[in-house]
Amino acid sequence: MTQDRTPDRTAPDATAAEQDRREEELLGRVLRSFDGCADPRLRELMRALVRHLHAFLREVRLTEDEWWKAIEFLTRTGHVTDDRRQEFVLLSDTLGASMQTITINNRAHRDATEATVFGPFFVDGAPRIELGGDIGGGAPGEPCWVEGTVRDTAGAPVPGARVDVWEADADGRYDVQYGDDRTAGRAHLFTGPDGDYRFWAVTPTPYPIPDDGPVGAMLAAVGRSPMRASHLHFRVSAPGHRTLVTHIFVRGDALLDADTVFGVRESLVKDFERLPAGTPTPDGRAVDGTWSRTGFDIVLAPAGA
Ligand code: BEZ
Ligand code: FE
Repeated sequence: MTQDRTPDRTAPDATAAEQDRREEELLGRVLRSFDGCADPRLRELMRALVRHLHAFLREVRLTEDEWWKAIEFLTRTGHVTDDRRQEFVLLSDTLGASMQTITINNRAHRDATEATVFGPFFVDGAPRIELGGDIGGGAPGEPCWVEGTVRDTAGAPVPGARVDVWEADADGRYDVQYGDDRTAGRAHLFTGPDGDYRFWAVTPTPYPIPDDGPVGAMLAAVGRSPMRASHLHFRVSAPGHRTLVTHIFVRGDALLDADTVFGVRESLVKDFERLPAGTPTPDGRAVDGTWSRTGFDIVLAPAGA
């Protein structure tokens, strides 16, 4: 007597096994489609992308309606992106992908200062100020004295390091968001012979990332705030050292645990001492009203670390 080996697809287990077999077979075919890719790194990236993408689709059992909504979301993201607005980077930021890429590529190295997101508001060609100068350029806000040193991981000072700094004003806006060509809240300076630096800025305040596009809609849909914790951006570069892009954050800021781009690192949270009106300033500058001060000692990793 011959045995019928055709699986009974009406049995629940057999149906599930057949479904799984079809999904696996498709995945295998897509993976094999990259076999002829001459660039081994591109092959690795594409195969891993497809593996993880298919795992996601299969894990959540994505409906065709949800797939279409995702396509529409990405289409809107593309449509609002131009030379001045990069909605894809904002998407990467709010999904933690930017911060994860930065973390991978700025490997922990002894006591080197941690890196964080670059953000969209850096502008090349910001003015140079001398040590003790003011980056404010008329930006509204409470004056803030910032000082520190730049050293290497052996503790040696790094004189002549370039320190770029930029920040939003007290109204939560960067100069470039006013659309009137002003330059305010940004400058660069060079460390002195002892690796020392100091400048006046404005006390950082919280502000929202641009949230009038699809990324803002995504944040609203999932009940997340578009706010960033108060911060001051730094980019520090010197020959022979890994360029550091980072911020400092204000200890006690209510948004430290809810920064919408996941940029906060505990090591970057600094005390900002608030000083009453009339308190003498470090450089004798006359300040109307309250002011604040903070310190940030920076350690650069060697290039290639
Ligand atoms: C910023 O800090 O400037 C920023 C970072 C990521 C997204 C939007 C803004
Ligand atoms: Fe910022």
